[in-house]
Amino acid sequence: MASAEREDNETRGEDSATGVSSETTSRSSRHGTSEDEGAIDMIRRYLAEKLGFYEADSERKPKILDDTSIDGIIKYIEEGRCKNLITMAGAGISTSAGIPDFRSPGSGLYHNLEKYNLPDPQAIFEIGFFRLNPKPFFTLAKELYPGSFKPTVCHYFIRLLNEKGLLRRHYTQNIDTLERVAGLPGEKIVEAHGTFHTSHCLECKQEYSLSWMKERIFADVVPTCDDCNGVVKPDIVFFGENLPSRFFSCVEKDFPKCDLLIILGSSLAVQPFASLIDRAPKECPRLLVNREKAGQRDRLMILLGMGSGMDFDSENNTRDVAWLGDCDDGCQMLADKLGWGDELRKLVKEEHARIDKEKKEEASKKKPEESKKEPEEKKKTDSISQ
Ligand code: OAD
Repeated sequence: MASAEREDNETRGEDSATGVSSETTSRSSRHGTSEDEGAIDMIRRYLAEKLGFYEADSERKPKILDDTSIDGIIKYIEEGRCKNLITMAGAGISTSAGIPDFRSPGSGLYHNLEKYNLPDPQAIFEIGFFRLNPKPFFTLAKELYPGSFKPTVCHYFIRLLNEKGLLRRHYTQNIDTLERVAGLPGEKIVEAHGTFHTSHCLECKQEYSLSWMKERIFADVVPTCDDCNGVVKPDIVFFGENLPSRFFSCVEKDFPKCDLLIILGSSLAVQPFASLIDRAPKECPRLLVNREKAGQRDRLMILLGMGSGMDFDSENNTRDVAWLGDCDDGCQMLADKLGWGDELRKLVKEEHARIDKEKKEEASKKKPEESKKEPEEKKKTDSISQ
């Protein structure tokens, strides 16, 4: 079974989609010399003859998008060619809610964990390290506890895609549950890296609820099992653990049907999630909305007509589009172009107002209880000090 294996290459700046060093990728120019291309063409023809595993030449490939730009994607949707849209999301869709991503230089979580004295940043999400020292994870969990944040424009855009009848499924690597908070139905979501909703004892597998876990996280204690005293861990997927079985069963059903893939806010650095982009059929357009390009196929592989990953820049590309910028801006722009712009703005405004109101009501309900408790607590303190 595949697992959320740690991308060791990544520390060397390697591109997970290709397994090829990004240093090499950035050093190789987009347009090689004609000598290079001649040699590569020869290799390609040789492989084609001997092994027959290269893709058909561009002239023979069907054109998928009229235009590999946002407008090409909009036209594709407006022509009614998209009925099984899949969205794939990463931490970049939640940064505007105040939750840091992992790998952005400076602000990413992995660049800000010095205080935890970890052997290396990703150790905080490694099951082996967690078994030895769970404290750093729970300290961080308190800081990033789901429930304290509001969904972003991007989350509500995904909800609109569903309400418009376009969305087959939303695959997320995030554990912040903001898709659920935004009102996307549970059956439409695949939480590939698990969820905080439930927790299990690492030893006897006893299940615990969210409220049980929350109480302990906020009390700054490492949660231990009431039965066997083993450490209890939220059901989020750590490096070295299997992904939920729902991930694999949904991938099998969804991806062969996918007719538009939108990847939002992910570096596509962690497997097996990153390789989902290659599970979409060859005629399925793929749109990346992200601050930087991600999941790209290596240039040599493109020339050889082999390999996996996206191909934004070659002449042969008729399916992959990269829109670089903030997810919220990209999603609002897409909604505007689809004629849903005002609907999205209204939805965000109303939902945020509702969440704010609920939080206020919750806080005011707590206050009288707390003030009732005060004299008792004061008495206790007094009696201790006597
Ligand atoms: P990363 O931090 O690796 O990537 C986030 C991507 O989003 C980067 O390419 C950013 O440039 C981009 N980004 C950040 N804010 C953005 C914004 N507002 N708009 C557009 N783009 C933005 O996060 P993930 O790809 O989600 O796994 O990381 C994948 C997995 O790595 C996580 O699920 C987690 C982590 O280790 C586990 O812990 C198992």
